Amino acid sequence: MDKSKIANLRNNYMLNELLENNVSQNPINQFTEWFNDAINAEMKEANAMVLSTVSDGKPKARVVLLKGFDENGFVFFTNYNSHKGAELEGNNFAALTFFWDVLERQVRVEGEISKLSEEDSCEYFWSRPRASQIGAWVSHQSETIVGRETLDEKLEFYNHKFESEDIVPKPPHWGGYVLKPESIEFWQGRPNRLHDRILYSLENENWRIERLSP
Ligand SMILES: Cc1cc2nc3c(=O)[nH]c(=O)nc-3n(C[C@H](O)[C@H](O)[C@H](O)COP(=O)(O)O)c2cc1C
Repeated sequence: MDKSKIANLRNNYMLNELLENNVSQNPINQFTEWFNDAINAEMKEANAMVLSTVSDGKPKARVVLLKGFDENGFVFFTNYNSHKGAELEGNNFAALTFFWDVLERQVRVEGEISKLSEEDSCEYFWSRPRASQIGAWVSHQSETIVGRETLDEKLEFYNHKFESEDIVPKPPHWGGYVLKPESIEFWQGRPNRLHDRILYSLENENWRIERLSP
């Protein structure tokens, strides 16, 4: 592709501002406000976030879906035996990044991750469509497979296995994680690359609020 075509891709951000006297004192309240804005903006995946982990000093990143948040942290669900599961086993410090392009906003969350209780994982698992529940049995996430037919064969196997069961059991290797934030940064695009960045950091159980240079 023509290099200048890429170099010339740029937007001037004009939509909004983020000022110290308008932000909430608590980042979860601030996140609630921005997350509501993202949902109301009717983008397709407002709850999509990049989960970054570190394994042997090497960063790894992938998109997962936010499935809940409150003072205790940010929740997502996955396969505990996946690559990310193994990475979190070795180092439970991770980062989440949201990018809401239509709002010209980014949120970065950092902190320690722990497993959700079995009870909470089951509750969410059983709220999913039955086909997704069976899919969790089919996929040994992040393992190499020879071809698509491996999945088709296993899907048939598990469809048959659970045919007469009203409730599909939750696989023991499937469940939720919660990231408890130690810092949350809100970024609002502004004109001429002079963006607003407000950082909340946890200090002795209180949230310190600072502005960062763009
Ligand atoms: C929009 C989107 C949403 C996704 N949501 C999830 C999710 O909630 N949980 C999950 O395990 N993988 C999700 N994935 C797939 C992951 O990005 C990734 O491919 C998978 O979890 C394996 O990652 P790993 O090998 O690093 O463990 C999603 C991918 C996309 C593009």
